[in-house]
Amino acid sequence: MARKIIIDTDPGIDDAMAILFAFQAPQLEVLGLTTTFGNVSVDLATQNAIKLTEIAQVTVPVAKGVAVPSHIAPRPHPDFVHGKDGFGNINLPAPAGSAIDKSAAQFIVDTVRAFPGEVTIIALGPLGNLAKALELDPEVADLVDEVVLMGGTAIEYGNVSPVAEANIMNDPHAADKVFTAPWQVTMIGLDVTHQVLLDNDILSRIKQANPEEGGFLFDCAQYYIDFYSSRFDMNGCYFHDASTIAYVMDPSIFGVELGAVRVACEGIGIGQTIFAPQGMSFPEPHWNDVPMTQVCMEVDSEKLLTLFETTLS
Ligand code: BDR
Ligand code: CA
Repeated sequence: MARKIIIDTDPGIDDAMAILFAFQAPQLEVLGLTTTFGNVSVDLATQNAIKLTEIAQVTVPVAKGVAVPSHIAPRPHPDFVHGKDGFGNINLPAPAGSAIDKSAAQFIVDTVRAFPGEVTIIALGPLGNLAKALELDPEVADLVDEVVLMGGTAIEYGNVSPVAEANIMNDPHAADKVFTAPWQVTMIGLDVTHQVLLDNDILSRIKQANPEEGGFLFDCAQYYIDFYSSRFDMNGCYFHDASTIAYVMDPSIFGVELGAVRVACEGIGIGQTIFAPQGMSFPEPHWNDVPMTQVCMEVDSEKLLTLFETTLS
């Protein structure tokens, strides 16, 4: 039976890779997309999510979510990474469809309640919608199968500060709520996404095999790859959001460590995901009685990229 998923997202070039990957995966049934601010405004994220359903020719509801962080001032959208349109400035026409008349958090609650124990939430952006769903209905934590999120970092450097990853930094309070709620969270952070390099050879082969979706991904990835090559002298881009989809399709691609994760919500460490490995105790109490997160620390890069390419080809 296909695994039921909701994708919470801020598309975003690597979000687009993840979403088209998921739509093509026979092991997954995408029940809906929920949107958040992050790479772009929530309005544009919603338009982009609808556009992705139209590119993939699937009928999947899109629910608009939070527009700003829960407790801090919003940070500027990173148009130097994803372009002003979130898709690398490729000037796509607006989508024909529209969002459903329900908030993202309400959609998450209703969908999880409709399929108790069966729904996995895959979060690819800041975590405000998940925190709001927990506020609306705390019991959803017991009814969700798993939360798999792209965000954070345990020992690798951050990408928006020496210790913070962008999705967590954009709403640290919401992220702390998600890591401390009584549901199974799997964190796919920079510890693993910085070990995987997606390059134009792979994207060209996908484009050749699948001109519609592959062509779109190739076109929007050029801006993203230019950012990585000019900033880090890399020949390709890190494989962030789509790693979550590979994880739900085949968790054996990753090696995980268990531990309690808390998020720093102020000061120069704001946005840091602070990982206390299982079995270690500390005089400071903040990690006591916090549910164990599965933190991905190892990845079989070749296997992951092969799964991405074959699924989309
Ligand atoms: C994360 O930040 C966003 O820019 C990407 O879409 C990804 O979700 C990587 O830090
Ligand atoms: Ca994202």
